[in-house]
Amino acid sequence: MITVRAAAKVNLHLGVGRRRPDGYHGLVTAYQAIGLYDDVTVEGDSEWSVHLRGDAHIDLQSVPVDEENLAVRAGRELVAHHGLDETTYAARIEIHKGIPVAGGLAGGSADAAAALVALDRLWDLQTPDDDLLGIAARLGSDVPFALVGGTATGTGRGEQIARLPDGGDWWWVVVGSERGLATPEVYARFDQLLEGATVAAPEIPHRLVAALETGDVIGLAESLENDLQAAALDLRPDLRRTLDDGRETGALAGLLSGSGPTVLLLCEDRGHAQGVVRALTDRGHAQLSVATAPVAGAHVVTHV
Ligand code: C5P
Repeated sequence: MITVRAAAKVNLHLGVGRRRPDGYHGLVTAYQAIGLYDDVTVEGDSEWSVHLRGDAHIDLQSVPVDEENLAVRAGRELVAHHGLDETTYAARIEIHKGIPVAGGLAGGSADAAAALVALDRLWDLQTPDDDLLGIAARLGSDVPFALVGGTATGTGRGEQIARLPDGGDWWWVVVGSERGLATPEVYARFDQLLEGATVAAPEIPHRLVAALETGDVIGLAESLENDLQAAALDLRPDLRRTLDDGRETGALAGLLSGSGPTVLLLCEDRGHAQGVVRALTDRGHAQLSVATAPVAGAHVVTHV
């Protein structure tokens, strides 16, 4: 039995280009792995199965437990990649979710990355890193980053990863939402809002790169940007209040994580983040947690 942990992500910068012929959007993003985790435990079995557990506030209803689950798809892709016998190689997969579902935090991608690492180890496949990244990219745009973790740029549709120097010790307040947002719907609204407008090729601002390198929290606060935010707020106008309350309670900056609806608030340090959590609680907000960053990509935590 092997347990692998994988982290949630935030997009510090999410520059979105036009819709491509394949339906995806070209993008240039800066990912950072933050300290909210899913743990995936695998055990060899005669057929694939998924068993979900979760932290108290996590809504597991919309997570598929059949072949649609990204962790099962990851397992099947790995078996096919190595040309293994599909009738012999299967696993019982237990997922303990600490990452909110459909929150824009790439929780499903984290599960897929964790499953790849866990099954590779369980069956001693010794899959080369580049092959694992290739399989990850086929599973979803955010899966390669979930493997790598830390801080990195993502180009293409987000799946081409290059590490970014990060000298900071960052603290985020994470504000979850009762209802999730479907990523394709947010991209579709982005297209509608953009109709007819010219779109510059997205790029990572130098200012962001410099702030990360030097650990300059004010510089990072001033360079956060998410091109999907307007579309997500159009679908969920209530999130504006969360962003406003975040600023009013002292966070340095706030933005939606990816396609939302999770709101991320950047703070100076742990104590500052805890103070913002208390102040937001007083204003009636729930589903609040503090997460540090950057943290590691998918890694083994227990092996018995
Ligand atoms: O790659 P992934 O399966 O996570 O993407 C989910 C959906 O998000 C896609 O089906 C597409 O609608 C949208 N998407 C996009 N452009 C990207 C990434 C995702 O349009 N670069």
